[in-house]
Amino acid sequence: MKALITAGGHGTRLRPITHTQNKHLIPIANKPILNYALEYVRDAGIREVGIITNQEGDEVKEVYGNGKALGLKIIYIPQERPSGLADCVRIAEPFIGTEPFVFYLGDNIIVGGIRRFIEEFEKNQTNCHLVLAKVPDPERFGVPEIKGNRIVNIVEKPKKPLSDFAVTGIYIYDHTIFEAVNNIKPSARGELEISDAHQYLLNKGYKVTFSEITGWWKDTGKPSDLLEANRLVLDNISTVIEGKVDRNSRISGRVVIAQGAEIVNSNIRGPVIIGAGAKISNAYIGPYSSIDKNCEISNAEIEFSIVSCNCIIRNQKIRIEASLLGKNVQIIESQAKPFTNRFIIGDQSLIEIR
Ligand code: G1P
Repeated sequence: MKALITAGGHGTRLRPITHTQNKHLIPIANKPILNYALEYVRDAGIREVGIITNQEGDEVKEVYGNGKALGLKIIYIPQERPSGLADCVRIAEPFIGTEPFVFYLGDNIIVGGIRRFIEEFEKNQTNCHLVLAKVPDPERFGVPEIKGNRIVNIVEKPKKPLSDFAVTGIYIYDHTIFEAVNNIKPSARGELEISDAHQYLLNKGYKVTFSEITGWWKDTGKPSDLLEANRLVLDNISTVIEGKVDRNSRISGRVVIAQGAEIVNSNIRGPVIIGAGAKISNAYIGPYSSIDKNCEISNAEIEFSIVSCNCIIRNQKIRIEASLLGKNVQIIESQAKPFTNRFIIGDQSLIEIR
């Protein structure tokens, strides 16, 4: 079995972070979002992975290269323009050949990996296995109509959903999917929709089965959604303390402190992850915070936030909550006189001041 993973798109709704990096590389619990897909695939025993990228921009390739570091063999398949998920499958046929494969949307995070879905696919000898999740807003997704434990129809972003399930971004196919993606027509928005390919399989009488999951997250583009994904992942970590913690610090709850991190006179209340080389002093790091590599945080309080690598937060009075900080951000006390606030901020940044 092979895997095909999407990692293109422009992440326009996640600006300014996505001005300088692909959204699939934004860290969730100190790992790029895309790492989760790659690890699920590897842990399910798959080695050969094709990653769909934008025509321009090599950032994903720069990070993952040939995949060796992750125990994978990765090739990159550039998509000329965003022409739909079914088009991603269509252009990957030379890579996939006739093997069954997992198609995974790189911005989806789930709890518990994907091995169980592959087992279902194999056990049921099905042409297409879909992973469904109950959601409060099915109209944002591909939605199945289910009759007596069978999917009978699938509609993309229906105005009136016929169930409260979303088809998540995890699909397992055999080669019949290529017949589907080569026979459907672009939708009103000009894209080859994956839901139309699924409907094609249903219409032709191919076997479409499904699993249901809980603990699924799909990026909708807002920073608050990334914080939710971060919460979902941190909720499942176990304590590993490899860094240094001094006697004046208090650690409670589930906390990961990577090797080379240092905690001095601070209160860390998990679930929290602190990356290698980070230095936390005279600070409070509260639940659902991810502090990435080489950050320096002193005299500050942070809770329910994502802090990317190399940030410096140094300020007597600051308490940061529900925030998303990109790489190399500095929030420091002003040394200048008069005592004013000074900002050097990229396009579309958001600052909320009490
Ligand atoms: C895509 C699919 C949709 C699916 C969703 C899951 O939507 O078209 O059927 O439910 O991914 O992540 P999009 O991300 O393009 O809105």
